[in-house]
Amino acid sequence: MSKIATMQWLEQGVLVLLDQRVLPHEIRFVQCTTAGQTAEAIATMTVRGAPAIGAAAAYGLALTAWHYPSHQPDDLRAALNESARVLENARPTAINLKWAIQRILRRADASNIDVSLLRATILAEAHAIANEDIQTNKAIGMHALDILPPQAITFIHHCNTGSLATVDYGTALGIIRTAHEYGRKVMVYVDETRPRLQGARLTAWELEQMGIAYKIITDGASGHVMKNYHIDAVVVGCDRVAANGDTANKIGTYNLALAAAAHGVPFYVACPTSTIDLNAPDGSTIPIEERPAEEITHIEGRRICPQGAQVYNPAFDVTPAKWITAMITEHGVCRPPFKKSLREAVLTGSRTK
Ligand code: MRU
Repeated sequence: MSKIATMQWLEQGVLVLLDQRVLPHEIRFVQCTTAGQTAEAIATMTVRGAPAIGAAAAYGLALTAWHYPSHQPDDLRAALNESARVLENARPTAINLKWAIQRILRRADASNIDVSLLRATILAEAHAIANEDIQTNKAIGMHALDILPPQAITFIHHCNTGSLATVDYGTALGIIRTAHEYGRKVMVYVDETRPRLQGARLTAWELEQMGIAYKIITDGASGHVMKNYHIDAVVVGCDRVAANGDTANKIGTYNLALAAAAHGVPFYVACPTSTIDLNAPDGSTIPIEERPAEEITHIEGRRICPQGAQVYNPAFDVTPAKWITAMITEHGVCRPPFKKSLREAVLTGSRTK
């Protein structure tokens, strides 16, 4: 899709990130040469979206390995653990961050070899995480085709889950893209997604490039749209899915799920198995990130609220599993009871690795 890569590793040991804070008006890149800079890019949402921040963190560890001055593998492992701590703390909700970091650390621990080989092993693992992400997203798109209407499809989509939120292709937006590529007549209502406007800025930008018909709506309009127009499916991404199917995703997802249930509209979560946290029994154990008040009180640097206005700004909410029709993973479509179907999807993945 977007020929501008969300992230790119340069041979000289530089991670280049497309700066998503200034899209769609400006194409700007941020270069990272340390894990600390990568963590900063994740925290400031220069790079964002659960799979993208997982892959970026993996490359952040590759940066530590790449530029590490000593010849002692144990020293490098200690440096990697320190970088991992910094990266893991960049954002709390998306489990992909921890998943990717743990995967790299396991690889480093299993490689009792000299530093240059260890460095190459870690970079190879980061590339593998990035490449698998793209294959995963394409597989999710193909599985979704089986459960979507065969001809015309009208979607509601929340936040940004496209190439920008992943290494490429996207999850929920990847489903929309697959439907379009396979000849279905697609129309998308795009939630603008307050407060950071990932829908209005990023999803609309991606849909423009793909030539897919869309209309941006305010977040509060989705109930009205479902009541007055035919909607075939709501599709959203996820940042962490608990073992019972409760799903943390961008703030506003829960309202959307309730509105979908009230109007009998199927509510689908595009769910790479890397986003399933079987250690979280239910949604109450998922940490919800709170972000700065300025995201709400200001628009493009200009204050819109009275001085001293108090703000509550949770970046995510948790949709209880009972409002979710199906979760579409790279291994197939999971239906309720999710406790059983999600576990099976995760185990299928671990068997095929
Ligand atoms: O705060 P963001 O923009 O990182 O939130 C992104 C989302 O909530 C996405 O829906 C989720 O990460 C899935 S992206 C494929």
